[in-house]
Amino acid sequence: MLEQLPNSCKTVLDIGCGTGEFSRLLATQVEEVLAIDLSPKTIEIAKQHSVDFLNIDFQVADVLHWVLPSEKFNAIVSIATLHYLPVQKLLPNWKAALKSGGRLIILDLCKHEALQDLLSDSIAVPLNYLLDSFTSTTSLYQLVEWRKS
Ligand SMILES: C[S@@+](CC[C@H](N)C(=O)[O-])C[C@H]1O[C@@H](n2cnc3c(N)ncnc32)[C@H](O)[C@@H]1O
Repeated sequence: MLEQLPNSCKTVLDIGCGTGEFSRLLATQVEEVLAIDLSPKTIEIAKQHSVDFLNIDFQVADVLHWVLPSEKFNAIVSIATLHYLPVQKLLPNWKAALKSGGRLIILDLCKHEALQDLLSDSIAVPLNYLLDSFTSTTSLYQLVEWRKS
């Protein structure tokens, strides 16, 4: 995921940050991370684990209703959160929140919509397992990258 960040990436929004594990990784690479999550308890834990990361701003927010600042972020990232949400409806907001050349980077679960999806997963699962023995990344999720024009 970090490799997908655009060049000269300074400001990143992490949607559904959970306890902030990836937010902390991001914070080692970029100047500023805004990390939001619906759950106050989770954000509290994220803050406790991130006292050394002065460049992360953890906020309790529901991305469905939160008004994003416009043209603020070089990247918006989200891991394992968007399968809960109506992504199509939210895309225009996220596009407006990205700076020119910004990226939306999503790692999430995909729904099977056709037999073909099921078949490709039947191949992907053992293939992922095999690839994992050669690399350190786990990817039963699908990586989607979208660049703002
Ligand atoms: C499966 S966890 C993933 C957490 C983190 N991204 C990770 O990979 O460890 C999904 C997170 O999304 C958050 N979430 C769900 N709906 C949300 C919403 N509408 N707005 C913000 N966060 C949301 C949940 O509270 C939860 O912490």
